[in-house]
Amino acid sequence: MHRLAPRLFGRSLVLTALAAPVPAQTAPSAPAAAAAPMRIAIRAGRLIDGLGGAPMAEAVILVENDRITAVGRGLAIPNGARVIDLSRSTVLPGFIDAHTHVTSQPENYMEDLFRKSPIDVAVSAHVYARRTLDAGFTTIRDVGAGEFIDVALRNAINAGTVPGPRMQVATLTVGSTGGHGDITGFSPYLKFGQFSGIADGEAEIRKLVRFEVKNGADLIKMLASAGVLSEEESVGAPQFTQEEMNAVVDEARMWGRKVAAHAHGAEAIKRALRAGVASVEHASLIDDEGIRLAKEKGAYLVMDIYNDDYIMAEYKRLGYPQKILDKEAAVGRLQRESFRRAVQAGVKMAFGTDAGVYPHGWNGRQFAKMVEWGMTPMQAIQSATTSGADLLGWSDRVGSIQAGRYADLVAVDGDPLRDITELERVKFVMKGGVVYKGAGNAAPLP
Ligand code: ARG
Repeated sequence: MHRLAPRLFGRSLVLTALAAPVPAQTAPSAPAAAAAPMRIAIRAGRLIDGLGGAPMAEAVILVENDRITAVGRGLAIPNGARVIDLSRSTVLPGFIDAHTHVTSQPENYMEDLFRKSPIDVAVSAHVYARRTLDAGFTTIRDVGAGEFIDVALRNAINAGTVPGPRMQVATLTVGSTGGHGDITGFSPYLKFGQFSGIADGEAEIRKLVRFEVKNGADLIKMLASAGVLSEEESVGAPQFTQEEMNAVVDEARMWGRKVAAHAHGAEAIKRALRAGVASVEHASLIDDEGIRLAKEKGAYLVMDIYNDDYIMAEYKRLGYPQKILDKEAAVGRLQRESFRRAVQAGVKMAFGTDAGVYPHGWNGRQFAKMVEWGMTPMQAIQSATTSGADLLGWSDRVGSIQAGRYADLVAVDGDPLRDITELERVKFVMKGGVVYKGAGNAAPLP
């Protein structure tokens, strides 16, 4: 959605007090040591390790502190290890959602925009983080939030103060005047006291990217095209020139940051890919040349194909303008058809849902859509495990169940390779060796 994020933060004159600079932290740290058991052995009835091979029956996963130390069939349980019995469940790597806006979710279009302050948003963000974690998403790439609330949330999670997924955060989105991140359709005299993610031309863009990195951005989110949940006319027209997109990517690269580009329209998608983005978000109207370019560049597509169901069902009730509902109607089905073409063409795909457009914790509902529109269940699982980790640059720590990775594990009752909707009913969640959601004899919540 991204568009909702700045809206939900509301406006205020006291923002500078709220948003003091926080140092960047790209690597999550372990949870408080007191909460982490020393040695755990997990018995898994069926193990899907994220690497794509056939599931392993009767697997044992050994965990020491926050890391996996060994995985195998019938491994000996070390003396003194606590045993967690998931022998009647399927165990998978904790999921990765590469497109969330975890700090907020919509309640009412006008009220979110005009009655909420950034402090209202900040005090509830941790609730959504917990729901996301409980749904089995142990890592998220959060792609746009106002007022650096995402930075504060990430830091509180890393410090063990607040339970939630590991986070990479984009902070303010980088967009053009009148674009998807701007507030369009109101009086030109309306002024909000928020940090602005608006930049036009190379100099402003470079300055904004630097400002975001300085204040904690792990990645940069660029708004390459018009969007759905914003009041500009088009849904996919480009909103930056090629030179401007090049500047975003070049500046981000200088600071060691990847760029995720919001783009619905074919031309904007191609400009973003030519500029060298790591991922194209939404990608609704991607054409064959765009698909070819994505493959050539090794870029990921992150397509939020569950969203349309929720927007069409609920957004009228939430008071969204007809113009926005019409835009969704224009793009929803085409995006799913594009998804199918992209899967068939073998483009790299990472699981990303735009959670925050719909309620946090429902992230897993997208798996079934992905299977309905052309992925095998294993492909859908890998998009949210090994592929997500690769896109985030975190393959060394998350996305698979292997020695050396964080002990981020989830369990479901049945076999998700037969019924993908099992992934909507996660019964057990461990992150960094700490059990956050129990099953069987698992430890109580911290
Ligand atoms: N944040 C996106 C936008 O406003 C949401 C698009 C949702 N629709 C969809 N069919 N994926 O553009």
